[in-house]
Amino acid sequence: MRKPFIAGNWKMNMTAESGAALIKELTPLVKDADCDVALCVPAILIPAMTKAAEGTNIAIGAENMHWEAKGAYTGEISADMLKEYGVKYVIIGHSERRQYFGETDETVNKRTKAVLAAGMTPIMCVGETLDERENGVTEKILSRQLTVDLEGVEDVTKVVIAYEPVWAIGTGRTATNEQAQETIAYIRKKIGELFCPKCAEKVIIQYGGSMNAANCKGLMAQPDIDGGLIGSASLKKEFAQIVNYNKYWEN
Ligand code: 13P
Repeated sequence: MRKPFIAGNWKMNMTAESGAALIKELTPLVKDADCDVALCVPAILIPAMTKAAEGTNIAIGAENMHWEAKGAYTGEISADMLKEYGVKYVIIGHSERRQYFGETDETVNKRTKAVLAAGMTPIMCVGETLDERENGVTEKILSRQLTVDLEGVEDVTKVVIAYEPVWAIGTGRTATNEQAQETIAYIRKKIGELFCPKCAEKVIIQYGGSMNAANCKGLMAQPDIDGGLIGSASLKKEFAQIVNYNKYWEN
Protein backbone atom coordinates (compact mmCIF):
# COMPACT_ATOMS: atom_id res chain seq x y z
CA MET A 1 0.00 0.00 0.00
CA ARG A 2 3.04 2.32 0.38
CA LYS A 3 4.75 2.92 -2.95
CA PRO A 4 8.52 2.60 -2.54
CA PHE A 5 10.48 5.79 -3.12
CA ILE A 6 14.17 5.99 -3.99
CA ALA A 7 15.70 9.46 -4.01
CA GLY A 8 19.22 10.69 -4.60
CA ASN A 9 20.82 13.55 -2.72
CA TRP A 10 23.60 15.04 -4.79
CA LYS A 11 24.67 17.35 -1.92
CA MET A 12 27.38 19.79 -3.19
CA ASN A 13 28.41 17.62 -6.12
CA MET A 14 27.95 17.66 -9.91
CA THR A 15 27.71 20.54 -12.40
CA ALA A 16 25.05 21.28 -15.00
CA GLU A 17 27.15 19.39 -17.54
CA SER A 18 27.99 16.27 -15.50
CA GLY A 19 24.50 16.22 -13.97
CA ALA A 20 22.74 16.29 -17.35
CA ALA A 21 25.06 13.55 -18.62
CA LEU A 22 24.22 11.36 -15.63
CA ILE A 23 20.48 11.89 -16.07
CA LYS A 24 20.85 10.91 -19.73
CA GLU A 25 22.67 7.74 -18.70
CA LEU A 26 20.15 6.89 -15.97
CA THR A 27 16.99 7.58 -17.99
CA PRO A 28 16.74 4.27 -19.92
CA LEU A 29 17.98 2.32 -16.89
CA VAL A 30 15.30 3.54 -14.49
CA LYS A 31 12.35 3.93 -16.87
CA ASP A 32 10.66 0.70 -15.79
CA ALA A 33 11.12 1.25 -12.08
CA ASP A 34 8.32 0.09 -9.80
CA CYS A 35 9.14 2.83 -7.31
CA ASP A 36 8.98 6.61 -7.38
CA VAL A 37 12.35 8.09 -8.38
CA ALA A 38 13.79 11.51 -7.60
CA LEU A 39 17.11 13.32 -7.64
CA CYS A 40 17.52 16.19 -5.20
CA VAL A 41 20.10 18.55 -6.60
CA PRO A 42 21.84 21.84 -5.72
CA ALA A 43 19.48 24.79 -6.29
CA ILE A 44 21.54 26.28 -9.11
CA LEU A 45 21.27 23.03 -11.07
CA ILE A 46 17.48 22.77 -10.81
CA PRO A 47 16.62 24.52 -14.12
CA ALA A 48 19.10 22.45 -16.15
CA MET A 49 18.27 19.17 -14.38
CA THR A 50 14.53 19.74 -14.79
CA LYS A 51 15.17 20.12 -18.50
CA ALA A 52 17.40 17.05 -18.62
CA ALA A 53 14.75 14.96 -16.83
CA GLU A 54 11.79 16.20 -18.88
CA GLY A 55 9.61 13.33 -20.09
CA THR A 56 11.34 10.80 -17.80
CA ASN A 57 10.16 9.22 -14.56
CA ILE A 58 12.90 11.06 -12.63
CA ALA A 59 11.48 13.88 -10.53
CA ILE A 60 13.80 16.71 -9.57
CA GLY A 61 13.96 17.82 -5.95
CA ALA A 62 15.75 20.50 -3.94
CA GLU A 63 18.09 20.11 -0.98
CA ASN A 64 16.65 22.86 1.19
CA MET A 65 14.07 25.67 1.24
CA HIS A 66 13.37 28.72 3.40
CA TRP A 67 10.13 29.02 5.33
CA GLU A 68 9.42 32.66 4.42
CA ALA A 69 7.80 33.42 1.06
CA LYS A 70 10.33 36.16 0.24
CA GLY A 71 12.45 38.88 1.73
CA ALA A 72 15.88 39.75 3.02
CA TYR A 73 17.32 36.24 3.46
CA THR A 74 20.56 36.28 1.50
CA GLY A 75 21.47 32.93 0.05
CA GLU A 76 18.10 31.28 0.70
CA ILE A 77 15.61 29.76 -1.76
CA SER A 78 11.82 30.20 -1.61
CA ALA A 79 8.94 27.88 -2.42
CA ASP A 80 7.91 29.96 -5.45
CA MET A 81 11.42 29.75 -6.90
CA LEU A 82 11.29 25.96 -6.67
CA LYS A 83 7.73 25.63 -7.89
CA GLU A 84 8.52 27.68 -10.97
CA TYR A 85 10.61 24.71 -12.13
CA GLY A 86 8.10 22.05 -11.14
CA VAL A 87 10.08 20.87 -8.11
CA LYS A 88 8.14 18.19 -6.25
CA TYR A 89 10.37 17.21 -3.34
CA VAL A 90 12.49 19.19 -0.90
CA ILE A 91 14.96 17.64 1.53
CA ILE A 92 14.59 19.31 4.91
CA GLY A 93 16.75 19.00 8.02
CA HIS A 94 19.53 16.86 6.59
CA SER A 95 22.06 16.09 9.32
CA GLU A 96 24.74 18.01 7.40
CA ARG A 97 22.58 21.12 7.67
CA ARG A 98 21.95 20.44 11.36
CA GLN A 99 25.68 19.80 11.97
CA TYR A 100 27.33 22.53 9.89
CA PHE A 101 24.69 25.20 9.27
CA GLY A 102 22.89 25.66 12.56
CA GLU A 103 19.66 23.94 11.56
CA THR A 104 17.54 23.16 14.62
CA ASP A 105 14.37 21.16 15.17
CA GLU A 106 12.50 24.48 15.24
CA THR A 107 13.79 25.60 11.83
CA VAL A 108 13.22 22.09 10.43
CA ASN A 109 9.62 22.38 11.62
CA LYS A 110 9.15 25.78 9.95
CA ARG A 111 10.69 24.60 6.68
CA THR A 112 8.65 21.37 6.67
CA LYS A 113 5.38 23.26 7.14
CA ALA A 114 6.32 25.77 4.42
CA VAL A 115 7.07 22.98 1.92
CA LEU A 116 3.69 21.39 2.68
CA ALA A 117 1.86 24.71 2.44
CA ALA A 118 3.40 25.18 -1.01
CA GLY A 119 2.02 21.80 -2.14
CA MET A 120 5.39 20.05 -2.34
CA THR A 121 6.62 17.00 -0.45
CA PRO A 122 9.23 17.43 2.27
CA ILE A 123 11.77 14.62 2.69
CA MET A 124 12.35 15.32 6.35
CA CYS A 125 15.55 13.83 7.78
CA VAL A 126 15.99 12.53 11.30
CA GLY A 127 18.69 10.40 12.88
CA GLU A 128 21.01 9.93 15.82
CA THR A 129 24.79 10.41 16.11
CA LEU A 130 27.18 7.60 16.96
CA ASP A 131 27.51 8.89 20.54
CA GLU A 132 23.75 8.89 20.93
CA ARG A 133 23.44 5.34 19.60
CA GLU A 134 26.25 4.09 21.82
CA ASN A 135 24.69 5.78 24.84
CA GLY A 136 21.37 4.06 24.17
CA VAL A 137 19.42 7.27 23.56
CA THR A 138 18.52 6.72 19.89
CA GLU A 139 14.78 6.50 20.56
CA LYS A 140 14.84 9.51 22.86
CA ILE A 141 16.58 11.61 20.19
CA LEU A 142 14.22 10.44 17.44
CA SER A 143 11.22 11.07 19.65
CA ARG A 144 12.34 14.67 20.25
CA GLN A 145 13.12 15.26 16.58
CA LEU A 146 9.78 13.86 15.40
CA THR A 147 7.77 15.67 18.06
CA VAL A 148 9.28 19.09 17.33
CA ASP A 149 9.94 18.72 13.59
CA LEU A 150 6.35 17.61 12.86
CA GLU A 151 4.60 19.92 15.30
CA GLY A 152 1.52 21.54 13.75
CA VAL A 153 1.69 19.43 10.57
CA GLU A 154 -1.89 18.80 9.50
CA ASP A 155 -1.48 15.75 7.28
CA VAL A 156 1.57 13.71 8.19
CA THR A 157 0.93 11.31 5.29
CA LYS A 158 2.16 14.08 2.97
CA VAL A 159 5.60 14.01 4.62
CA VAL A 160 8.33 11.58 3.59
CA ILE A 161 10.64 10.75 6.50
CA ALA A 162 14.27 9.83 5.88
CA TYR A 163 15.89 7.98 8.76
CA GLU A 164 19.58 8.71 8.37
CA PRO A 165 21.80 7.61 11.24
CA VAL A 166 24.56 10.23 11.22
CA TRP A 167 27.22 7.56 11.77
CA ALA A 168 26.21 5.80 8.55
CA ILE A 169 26.37 8.84 6.27
CA GLY A 170 29.36 8.91 3.95
CA THR A 171 31.20 6.41 6.15
CA GLY A 172 30.58 3.20 4.27
CA ARG A 173 29.16 1.92 7.54
CA THR A 174 25.55 1.04 6.78
CA ALA A 175 23.08 0.20 9.52
CA THR A 176 22.35 -3.51 9.48
CA ASN A 177 18.99 -4.53 8.05
CA GLU A 178 17.84 -5.29 11.60
CA GLN A 179 19.03 -1.95 13.04
CA ALA A 180 17.40 0.01 10.22
CA GLN A 181 14.15 -1.99 10.46
CA GLU A 182 13.97 -1.73 14.24
CA THR A 183 14.59 2.02 14.26
CA ILE A 184 12.22 2.76 11.39
CA ALA A 185 9.53 0.66 13.07
CA TYR A 186 10.05 2.85 16.15
CA ILE A 187 9.69 6.00 14.01
CA ARG A 188 6.42 4.66 12.59
CA LYS A 189 5.15 3.85 16.07
CA LYS A 190 6.04 7.33 17.30
CA ILE A 191 4.25 8.96 14.35
CA GLY A 192 1.27 6.80 15.26
CA GLU A 193 1.34 8.21 18.78
CA LEU A 194 1.80 11.80 17.62
CA PHE A 195 -0.87 11.58 14.92
CA CYS A 196 -2.81 8.36 14.43
CA PRO A 197 -1.76 4.73 13.87
CA LYS A 198 -3.64 4.60 10.55
CA CYS A 199 -1.78 7.70 9.27
CA ALA A 200 1.53 6.20 10.38
CA GLU A 201 0.85 3.15 8.21
CA LYS A 202 0.66 5.44 5.18
CA VAL A 203 3.86 7.43 5.79
CA ILE A 204 6.76 6.65 3.46
CA ILE A 205 9.92 6.17 5.54
CA GLN A 206 13.26 5.92 3.76
CA TYR A 207 16.58 4.69 5.06
CA GLY A 208 19.71 6.72 4.25
CA GLY A 209 23.37 6.21 5.01
CA SER A 210 25.84 4.38 2.76
CA MET A 211 23.01 2.63 0.94
CA ASN A 212 24.34 1.11 -2.27
CA ALA A 213 23.72 -1.50 -4.95
CA ALA A 214 25.06 -4.27 -2.72
CA ASN A 215 22.99 -3.60 0.40
CA CYS A 216 19.78 -2.11 -1.03
CA LYS A 217 17.97 -5.43 -1.54
CA GLY A 218 18.32 -6.46 2.09
CA LEU A 219 17.27 -3.05 3.38
CA MET A 220 14.30 -2.80 1.01
CA ALA A 221 13.11 -6.25 2.08
CA GLN A 222 12.41 -4.95 5.59
CA PRO A 223 8.70 -4.43 6.22
CA ASP A 224 8.94 -0.83 7.46
CA ILE A 225 11.59 0.43 5.02
CA ASP A 226 9.87 2.07 2.06
CA GLY A 227 12.83 3.47 0.18
CA GLY A 228 16.21 5.08 0.34
CA LEU A 229 17.86 8.49 0.37
CA ILE A 230 21.09 7.91 -1.49
CA GLY A 231 24.16 10.13 -1.28
CA SER A 232 27.36 9.07 -3.02
CA ALA A 233 25.81 6.19 -4.97
CA SER A 234 23.39 8.68 -6.58
CA LEU A 235 26.30 10.38 -8.34
CA LYS A 236 26.79 7.45 -10.67
CA LYS A 237 25.13 4.70 -12.69
CA GLU A 238 24.89 2.63 -9.50
CA PHE A 239 21.82 4.70 -8.61
CA ALA A 240 19.89 2.84 -11.32
CA GLN A 241 20.73 -0.48 -9.66
CA ILE A 242 19.30 0.77 -6.38
CA VAL A 243 16.16 2.02 -8.12
CA ASN A 244 15.83 -1.48 -9.62
CA TYR A 245 16.49 -3.18 -6.28
CA ASN A 246 13.64 -5.62 -6.98
CA LYS A 247 14.84 -6.67 -10.42
CA TYR A 248 17.59 -8.86 -11.78
CA TRP A 249 20.49 -6.66 -12.84
CA GLU A 250 23.03 -7.65 -15.47
CA ASN A 251 26.32 -5.84 -15.01
P1 13P B 1 25.70 8.47 1.63
O1 13P B 1 24.82 7.57 0.82
O2 13P B 1 26.83 9.07 0.83
O3 13P B 1 26.17 7.83 2.90
O4 13P B 1 24.80 9.72 2.06
C1 13P B 1 23.57 9.49 2.61
C2 13P B 1 22.85 10.77 2.74
O5 13P B 1 23.22 11.61 3.52
C3 13P B 1 21.70 11.00 1.86
O6 13P B 1 21.02 12.14 2.23
